Amino acid sequence: MIKKYKLGEPIETESVVDDIELTSGIPQGLVSGAECTFCIEMSEDTRVYGLGETVRGINKRGWRYISNCTDDSIHTESKNSLYAAHNFLLIWNKNSTVGYYIDTPEKVEFDIGYSESDKLFIRPESPNAYIYEITPDLSGNTSEECGTDSPLASVVRQFRHIIGKSYIPPLFAFGYGQSRWGYKSREDILSVITEYEDADIPLDSVYLDIDYMDAFKDFTINESAYPNFEDFVKSVKEKNIHLIPIIDAGVKIEDGYDVYEEGIKNDHFCKKEDGTPFVAAVWPGRVHFPDFFKPETREWFGEKYSFLLDKGIDGFWNDMNEPAIFYSEDGLREAFDKIRSFEGKNLDINSFFEFAGIIDSIKNSPKDYKSFYHEYKGKKIRHDKLHNLYGYMMTRAAGEAFEKLCSDRRILMFSRASYIGMHRYGGVWTGDNQSWWSHLLLNIQQLPGLNMCGFLYSGADTGGFGADCTEDLLLRWLAVSIFTPLFRNHSAMGTRQQEVYRFPHKDWMRGIIRLRYALIPYLYSEFMKAALCEDMLIRPLSFVYMDDERACDTEDQLLIGDSIMIAPVYTQNAAGRTVYLPEPMNMLRFDGDRLIEEKELPPGDHYISIPLKEVVIFLRNGHVLPLTKPANTTAELDLNDVTYVCYGALEDSYKWYRDENAHP
Ligand code: NOJ
Repeated sequence: MIKKYKLGEPIETESVVDDIELTSGIPQGLVSGAECTFCIEMSEDTRVYGLGETVRGINKRGWRYISNCTDDSIHTESKNSLYAAHNFLLIWNKNSTVGYYIDTPEKVEFDIGYSESDKLFIRPESPNAYIYEITPDLSGNTSEECGTDSPLASVVRQFRHIIGKSYIPPLFAFGYGQSRWGYKSREDILSVITEYEDADIPLDSVYLDIDYMDAFKDFTINESAYPNFEDFVKSVKEKNIHLIPIIDAGVKIEDGYDVYEEGIKNDHFCKKEDGTPFVAAVWPGRVHFPDFFKPETREWFGEKYSFLLDKGIDGFWNDMNEPAIFYSEDGLREAFDKIRSFEGKNLDINSFFEFAGIIDSIKNSPKDYKSFYHEYKGKKIRHDKLHNLYGYMMTRAAGEAFEKLCSDRRILMFSRASYIGMHRYGGVWTGDNQSWWSHLLLNIQQLPGLNMCGFLYSGADTGGFGADCTEDLLLRWLAVSIFTPLFRNHSAMGTRQQEVYRFPHKDWMRGIIRLRYALIPYLYSEFMKAALCEDMLIRPLSFVYMDDERACDTEDQLLIGDSIMIAPVYTQNAAGRTVYLPEPMNMLRFDGDRLIEEKELPPGDHYISIPLKEVVIFLRNGHVLPLTKPANTTAELDLNDVTYVCYGALEDSYKWYRDENAHP
C-alpha cells in the first residue's frame, strides 16, 4: 500500500515513474514538528534500513546522514554525506514495517537516533518534497515468478515498482575488471592484459581512466599515447576484453575543442546569475558544466558517447558528477585576495588556521553550488536546489542516448554520483574508498541499502582506491567482490600497485577470481530475477529470518540471491570467524574454484576457519547452487555446462534465468 503526500511545491525529480494519487495532509506515521521536521518514535527493537550509499552499518540507527552528493574521498564513520543521495528508509520492528521515500533534490537530513536515541527526525532543507509512505501489502504477494514476500520485502518491492526497473548490464560486466588511475598508454594497458594472460587469470575488462583523453577533454583520445585507438579497441576485443573509458562531467574550455564550441554555440552550459557560463575547474583546469536538466543538452551530450561507441567501446563510467569542483573562477579570485590580506600579519592561533583553511575551502564550496543555474522544466533554478540530481541527469543523458543509438545491445554504464531514478540508466561504484579493513566491512554493509534503492549493479573498488593495499586485504576483498555484480580492482595514482599478478600468492587470487566465473550462471540469473521482479539481489539476513533476533542483528553476513549466504572475513590476521546460521545450511568450502568440502551444519554459532586462499559459501536448506566451469573471459564460459550443488529437500526446481541478450 503506497500513499503519496505533497509538501509545498516540490521540484519534480522524475525518480518515480508510477502515477500515484495524492493524499492530503502528512503521512500518518510522521509527527510534524517545527521547521519542516518530521519525527518518528523508535522503540528499542526498531531497526532502520536504507539510505543506499552511506557510511556505517546496515542498521542506520545512531547517526546523522545528510543527502548531499559530495566528492569526499575519506569515507570515515564521522562523515555525513558521500557521493549519493538515496532518500529511502525502511523502518521496522516486531509490530510494524513502513518505508518512506523523501523525494526532493535538495538536502535532507536523516537524524536516526543521533539527537535523541529513540527518535528519528527527517529534516528536508526546505518545506518542499513528495513523501511516499509504503506499508506491506501481503495480499496476493505470491507469484510463480517472483515468490512470496516478507513484510520487509513487500515494502521494498512496492517502492522498487514505483521507481521503475533497474538497469541491466551486458554479461561481460559480470566478469572481472582491472583498473588504475595511472595507466598512461596503450603499452600500459597491453602489459596489464599480457600479465593477466601469462598468469592465466580471468579478465573481462580494463578501465581507461582520464589519461586516455587528450588533456582530460571528454570524447577525445590522446593520440600519442593511444595511436590508432579504434584498431587497439578491436585487437583487445579479439581477446574478448573490453576497454571501459571514463567520462567526466566538466567540459574543458578551449578554443577549437568541438564539445566546448558546440556547447557554447547551442547554449548547453550552466550559467551564472548574469547569464554568462559558470566557470569551474576540475582535471583539465577550467571547465563548463553541461546543463543536463535540459532534454536537448542531454541529447547532445548523450550523442557524444557515439564518438567512443563507434570505435568499438561498449562500456563507460561517469565520474566527478556531483559535480566535483576544485575551485570556481570567482572562488579562486576571492581566495587569492584573502591570502594577500594575511601578508605581513603575525599569524596567531586563530589567524593561522583561518589562513591554512583558505585553500581547502575553495574545493566543493557551498557558495559555488549557489552561484550557477539550470533550466529545468521551463524554469531557471539555482544549482543547490537541484544538486542531488546532477549525476543522475548526466547518466540519464548517456542512458537515453544508448536506447537510441544501440537499442539492440546493452552498454555497461555506472556512475559515481547518483539519486534514485538513476538506477534505471546505470549502476554505481562507491567511489574513492581506501585500502582499509574497515572499508571492506563498509563495502559489505553498503550493498543491501544500494539494492533497496534499485542499484543492483554496484560494487566498490576492490582492494581499495586510496592507500596501500596488502596481499591479505586484497585476498579477503576478492572473496567479497566475487559476489558483487560490479567486480573491479581499482586504485589511485601514487598508491601501491594492486593488480593481482603483482602479489606472491597470485595463484590464490587466480583461484578466487575463477570461482567468480564459476558462479556467473547463478549471479546473472539471480541478478536478472531481482531486476525483473523488482527485488533485491543482496539482502540482510532479516529479510528471510525476520523472527530470529540474532539473524536480524547480524550485520556482517549477507544473502546473495535466493540460495546462498556469505560470511566474509574482514579483519586482518584472522584465520577464520564465527558464523551464525539461522537454519541448517550446507557449508561449501572452495579452494579457489575447487569445491573441497561440503558439510551440513546445524543452526547456531560456528567458528569456521577460512584460510586466505579459500572461500566459504553457505547453501540454504532446500536450495540449489548452479556452478559452471570457469573460463578466462565471460565470452568463453559455456553457460550450458552447469553442475548443481543441492542441499536438503528441494522446495522447488531452480529457476535458472538465461537470455539471448547477455552478450553485446
Ligand atoms: C575520481 C574517481 O573516483 C576515481 O575513481 C578516478 O580514478 C579519479 N577520479 C581520476 O579520474
